[in-house]
Amino acid sequence: MKTSASILALATLAAALPSQKVNKRACDSAVKLSGTENVFKSYTLHPNSFYKAEVAAAVKNLSDQSLATAAAKVGDVGSFLWLDTIANIDKLKKELATDIPCKNVLGLVIYDLPGRDCAAKASNGELAVGEIDKYKTQYIDVIAGLLKGAPNQAFALIIEPDSLPNLVTNIDLTTCQQSKSGYEEGVAYALKTLNLPNVVMYVDAGHGGWLGWNDNLKPGAEGLAKVYKAAGSPSQVRGISTNIAGWNSFDQTPGEFSTTSDAQYNKAQNEKLYVSLFGDALATAGHPNHAIVDTGRNAVTGLREEWGHWCNVKGAGFGVRPTADTGDERTDAFVWGKPGGESDGTSDTSATRYDSFCGNNDAYKPSPEAGEWNQPYFEDLLKNAKPQF
Ligand code: BGC
Repeated sequence: MKTSASILALATLAAALPSQKVNKRACDSAVKLSGTENVFKSYTLHPNSFYKAEVAAAVKNLSDQSLATAAAKVGDVGSFLWLDTIANIDKLKKELATDIPCKNVLGLVIYDLPGRDCAAKASNGELAVGEIDKYKTQYIDVIAGLLKGAPNQAFALIIEPDSLPNLVTNIDLTTCQQSKSGYEEGVAYALKTLNLPNVVMYVDAGHGGWLGWNDNLKPGAEGLAKVYKAAGSPSQVRGISTNIAGWNSFDQTPGEFSTTSDAQYNKAQNEKLYVSLFGDALATAGHPNHAIVDTGRNAVTGLREEWGHWCNVKGAGFGVRPTADTGDERTDAFVWGKPGGESDGTSDTSATRYDSFCGNNDAYKPSPEAGEWNQPYFEDLLKNAKPQF
């Protein structure tokens, strides 16, 4: 018969259990990844519960219920979870409390540099220029702690979309000049601190229409290599991410903008060519050069008036689902980086973060603040998806 003391002990144990919930589908030993291998060959990009819930809510709000079956399937697609504020690190905590299958890699976007989005307004972040210590201690260190606390879980990280590319092409802007040292120090700190055995990292390199210009390849690659070396050439850096939240086709030939008058100055007319050309420049500069490419919203081309248009492009469709089957040795995987349905920026001209790109003719209006759900836009992505759901 149990004594009251042991009953009390059991009760205490039971009370402690919920916070120490065990992932029933987790790997039973520590995950060992490395920048020398393509993690997506052995792991599937995890369909995270945050996007799943966004899609489930969208299914209930469909303007046309005949789309319901197809719409529901979008929630099963693997995509990256954006940790875009310190508070949103909670999304990672919540995800780690779910049953993530051992064969799945959890994709995270690290996105909170001081003076974020220096060349645009739509995604200006919470940290001001100069708040580098806050970035390190309240953001990166906290994420690193959580990743260390889940040694049996595989993680793939996209590091700071647009940041280092902006330092190459937008350094004439005062805002980017002010952000520069914080971006370099912040990205180096992220690479060094998140360099853990269960993690692989891809540093963001924009897209072919950005650093793919002949004159940008070398400075772009050298800019990334400088930061990578400052971080001590971390073993878990595998290469770059491209086309994050972008619209470029992977292999359309000739490329979408190949008939414009300046096309002669850019040989990276699709992302496959960009991965190849920028990858060569990275190798020369001394930076790992495998790539993951966002195909989340690139099903339809011919929509943008100009290559540089980035905001809520009208008529877009969900693209190829995440896969390591890319047909290109240097391209590790097609991934869904930007969660399709979340806005790129507000079209409200009176908003502080209103960016004129979100008012372009080819931008969908009305659109909510960056990251907020845009239901009609989601429905269009679904209708225009290739392959269809
Ligand atoms: C926004 C973030 C958001 C991300 C994914 C970015 O443009 O600034 O807040 O998490 O897109 O939708």
